[in-house]
Amino acid sequence: MVRWGVIGPGGIATRFGNAMTAVDDGEIVAVSSRSIDRARDYADRFGVASAYEGVDDLLADDRVDVVYVATPHSRHEADSLAALAAGKPVLCEKAFALDAAQASRMVEAARAAGLFLMEALWSRFLPGYRRLRELLDEGAIGDPLLVEADFGFQKPFDPAHRLFDLAQGGGALLDLGIYPVQLCTFVLGLPDRVVADGVVGPSGADETVAALLHHRHDRLGVVKASTQVPMACTARIAGTQGWVDIPAFMHHPDSLAVHGAAGTHTLDTAYDGDGLRFEIEEVHRCLAAGALESPVMPLDESIALMRILDDIRAQIGVVYPGL
Ligand SMILES: NC(=O)c1ccc[n+]([C@@H]2O[C@H](COP(=O)([O-])OP(=O)(O)OC[C@H]3O[C@@H](n4cnc5c(N)ncnc54)[C@H](OP(=O)(O)O)[C@@H]3O)[C@@H](O)[C@H]2O)c1
Repeated sequence: MVRWGVIGPGGIATRFGNAMTAVDDGEIVAVSSRSIDRARDYADRFGVASAYEGVDDLLADDRVDVVYVATPHSRHEADSLAALAAGKPVLCEKAFALDAAQASRMVEAARAAGLFLMEALWSRFLPGYRRLRELLDEGAIGDPLLVEADFGFQKPFDPAHRLFDLAQGGGALLDLGIYPVQLCTFVLGLPDRVVADGVVGPSGADETVAALLHHRHDRLGVVKASTQVPMACTARIAGTQGWVDIPAFMHHPDSLAVHGAAGTHTLDTAYDGDGLRFEIEEVHRCLAAGALESPVMPLDESIALMRILDDIRAQIGVVYPGL
């Protein structure tokens, strides 16, 4: 059994708790919150043995094998560094940090301590993305040249909400834009240059963002994200011999429509339960193998993704306090 400690019992930690029920060799044994009542509530909901106020006791708990950082972006570096300093491997939610400097410090700390660290970019571990990788490797659409992807919805402005609060690392880009951007790097590798613009809301957080990623060998990524505009939340990857349509939601697709040299067909990539279980299983695989990072979501790519987000944010003029 791999025994997990969860920091931050909010929305995604609730999904994580549900996902864990479908994982045979894992359990959540501890949870920490800024409020003992919220920690206890989570513990009650998921049958977690220990509820703590603050992270220190959770990190000192010898039963915790690995820590899931499920706090807002602004807390990812501090919570991950604290867990690593306590000798715990870490799965940290996306976006990995507020910026590339923070992400680099997290990776350096993990490598220096010889501990596993991974960004919880769950899309990468889902059947849809695994099948997409196979399709691209098989040359099903020839040489991929263009990725178009968007992810957006309309959320009423609330200055206290994580999505809009700069102090929590708010903004459409870090929360939603990360998914279209990671699809570009997944398919095309890293970009050489990025051109971006966006709309900044009253809190100073980006509300709608569009960016053009220019990759090596003249490949392009076109991405959009918004907390103010409903978007299709789909993606298309076009190559020299066809294209793949990823239907909504592009970050956890139930199918892929392939229009290739061999004709048109739809692949079923649906799965049961909460898709977060696939990233949990990846962490278990890596820990069992003694791997310090996942080949599916490498740490250097997590840093590179943050650099792209930094670049886009700089062009839009979104600045996080303290950076
Ligand atoms: N993979 C996915 O599909 C997915 C989906 C949604 C979100 N996420 C990611 O998950 C992370 C958390 O998002 P969420 O939607 O779960 O947020 P959330 O519902 O607000 O939960 C975050 C939790 O972090 C704790 N926390 C610790 N320090 C905090 C601080 N300074 N300010 C506010 N909360 C603090 C809070 O718990 P206490 O107050 O009890 O300490 C809060 O409940 C983000 O990185 C987000 O991008 C991923």
